[in-house]
Amino acid sequence: MLRRCLKLCLIALMLGGILWLWDANYAAAETHQQEGDENAVCLSCHSNPDLKTTLPSGEETSLYVDPAVFAASVHGKQAQKCTACHSNIKGYPHPPMFASDRRDLTLGLYTACRQCHTQQYQMTLDSVHARVLAGGDRNAPVCTDCHGAHNVTPPDQPRAKIPTTCSQCHSTIFNEYKDSVHGTALNGTDNPDVPSCVDCHGVHSMEDPRTTEFRLKSPQLCATCHTDTAKMAKYGISTNVLNSYVADFHGTTVTLFEKQTPDHPTNKAVCYDCHGIHNIKEISDPEASVVKENLLTTCRQCHPDATANFPASWVGHYNASPQRHPLVYYVQLFYRILIPGLIGFFIVFILLDIARRMTGRMQRKGA
Ligand code: HEC
Ligand code: HEC
Ligand code: HEC
Ligand code: HEC
Ligand code: HEC
Ligand code: HEC
Ligand code: HEC
Ligand code: HEC
Ligand code: HEC
Repeated sequence: MLRRCLKLCLIALMLGGILWLWDANYAAAETHQQEGDENAVCLSCHSNPDLKTTLPSGEETSLYVDPAVFAASVHGKQAQKCTACHSNIKGYPHPPMFASDRRDLTLGLYTACRQCHTQQYQMTLDSVHARVLAGGDRNAPVCTDCHGAHNVTPPDQPRAKIPTTCSQCHSTIFNEYKDSVHGTALNGTDNPDVPSCVDCHGVHSMEDPRTTEFRLKSPQLCATCHTDTAKMAKYGISTNVLNSYVADFHGTTVTLFEKQTPDHPTNKAVCYDCHGIHNIKEISDPEASVVKENLLTTCRQCHPDATANFPASWVGHYNASPQRHPLVYYVQLFYRILIPGLIGFFIVFILLDIARRMTGRMQRKGA
């Protein structure tokens, strides 16, 4: 009796299981279908290049979504539904338009990115761009200004895409950067060695670079690459630049300030006061701020009374040698020999003196 009951129960369970599996599969297939269908419904109107609407501001805006461009985007490749981002739209007619003008449309819709990219969204909240936006400048960038909406592609492939993204709004800086030693090396390529805009500024949590804190930390920023021996060897560039900087009067003070009084502004030179910022050139480039012909002008920013031979008073990043700064080299060498020599001489002198006195005393005792 018990056995038959168990058998029946087992059969019932198996049947139930099969039915459940079949149902689940069917349901999944159906949602997948719906996904395709749903986007197709939206695109039945929105793939029309002539679909437009006039906003309350009087601006006419296109409502065209290129199906091929969307399909090739990171989200299209994931078969995202249009309604994953446009969650308020279920079909047609749509809810009434909220946007008063074109920028308002962007500022109203970009928050859709937040649901899936919470981390990036959170990071932007405290950025310099977000503060500018909150301050009323509607031109400050939001997600879609940098990434697009229906045409999102990986933002760093190739890396040269990054400065181009910023150039939409910072064209003057971009133009300087493009011709700099860093920008030229990146131009159009994927070169991972040189800094793009975001290596120096950060991306989503970008800060104001004109603060005291940023300035004091900047030598370390340049040093992340310029003390990397493997990276610099490729370009034949000295990695002694940080050490020699920290050892000189400008660097020593800046380093002290950074450690002890981080809020205190410094008037001493940091790397970019001498080399430039977005326009850094190779040191042999005739336009470089540190090339012999321009060096005096560079020093005069802060040493207005400097005369033509003033730069020579500074050994730069190099240790003095018979070829470079021979005078400094020989003076250093002289002191290096003279001082230990003098000390040694005095020690020997004193020892001899003690020995002489002792033998004198012993002789006197013996006598
Ligand atoms: C029958 C044609 C039609 C269909 C189908 C359609 N739309 Fe629209 N859509 C329009 C028109 C026309 C407008 C202009 C504003 C309006 O009339 O509401 C518009 C405006 C929009 C806007 C911009 C303004 C706003 O309201 O945010 C978005 C976004 C949008 N549609 C998304 C979608 C999505 C997503 C779907 C699919 C779920 C879809 N549309 C289906 C015709 C259509
Ligand atoms: C990854 C999120 C996302 C997906 C997926 C998405 N949209 Fe959008 N869509 C946006 C954002 C953000 C905007 C605002 C764009 C702007 O600032 O110009 C927008 C704007 C629009 C507009 C207004 C006109 C315009 O181009 O600015 C229409 C129409 C629209 N989308 C339709 C669609 C349709 C149809 C699909 C599916 C094929 C779709 N969207 C998929 C995020 C998305
Ligand atoms: C429904 C979820 C969803 C929404 C909404 C969404 N995304 Fe995505 N996004 C993804 C997924 C999934 C990927 C692919 C996986 C990945 O690389 O993170 C992706 C990839 C990306 C990438 C490429 C990342 C990379 O490393 O190459 C960018 C950039 C991006 N999304 C920006 C946006 C922007 C901007 C919006 C708003 C207009 C948005 N996303 C809205 C899910 C979403
Ligand atoms: C000022 C331009 C800018 C804005 C605004 C911006 N991004 Fe980015 N984003 C970038 C750049 C540039 C990268 C590539 C960074 C890299 O590779 O070092 C990136 C990378 C990403 C990635 C890839 C993963 C990662 O973190 O590197 C995602 C996802 C992304 N952004 C989403 C968003 C979302 C969502 C928003 C809005 C909340 C947003 N971004 C706002 C420029 C921007
Ligand atoms: C859609 C336009 C837009 C894009 C794209 C954009 N920015 Fe900005 N950015 C602004 C605006 C507007 C300000 C506010 C100050 C101003 O007017 O110059 C600003 C400010 C800044 C500041 C702070 C300095 C200041 O003047 O307050 C930095 C740094 C900056 N952007 C870097 C970048 C970088 C790096 C990128 C690319 C990853 C980028 N921006 C992309 C519009 C943009
Ligand atoms: C090697 C590091 C580095 C790189 C690369 C770099 N910046 Fe800067 N940027 C700085 C520093 C340092 C400052 C602060 C200068 C100051 O104190 O005035 C700055 C300042 C700025 C400012 C605000 C000051 C101004 O002049 O308006 C903006 C905007 C800016 N950078 C954008 C960019 C953009 C866009 C790119 C890429 C095309 C870029 N930066 C590349 C280091 C860098
Ligand atoms: C007071 C001005 C000044 C400061 C500050 C300064 N430099 Fe220099 N830098 C020069 C001059 C001048 C040269 C040309 C060579 C020389 O005479 O030392 C140079 C050369 C270089 C070179 C080329 C070295 C080579 O092997 O070709 C690099 C790289 C460099 N500096 C990076 C830096 C970095 C990084 C910092 C900050 C840690 C910095 N500089 C601080 C003036 C300065
Ligand atoms: C992400 C790494 C990176 C950062 C950050 C960086 N650099 Fe560079 N820098 C390089 C590379 C790589 C080169 C060589 C490029 C070439 O020659 O094509 C270079 C070249 C230079 C040169 C030219 C040297 C020569 O050959 O004459 C100077 C000067 C310089 N950088 C100064 C700076 C300063 C100042 C900073 C900080 C404001 C800085 N760099 C930040 C990677 C970096
Ligand atoms: C951003 C400003 C700035 C720049 C650019 C700068 N310096 Fe200085 N330098 C200073 C300050 C500030 C002091 C400390 C002056 C004092 O204490 O009287 C100093 C001190 C010196 C001293 C120590 C002797 C003295 O006059 O007190 C020498 C030598 C010197 N700098 C050489 C140079 C040379 C050479 C250059 C150009 C390659 C240069 N500096 C560029 C700010 C700068």
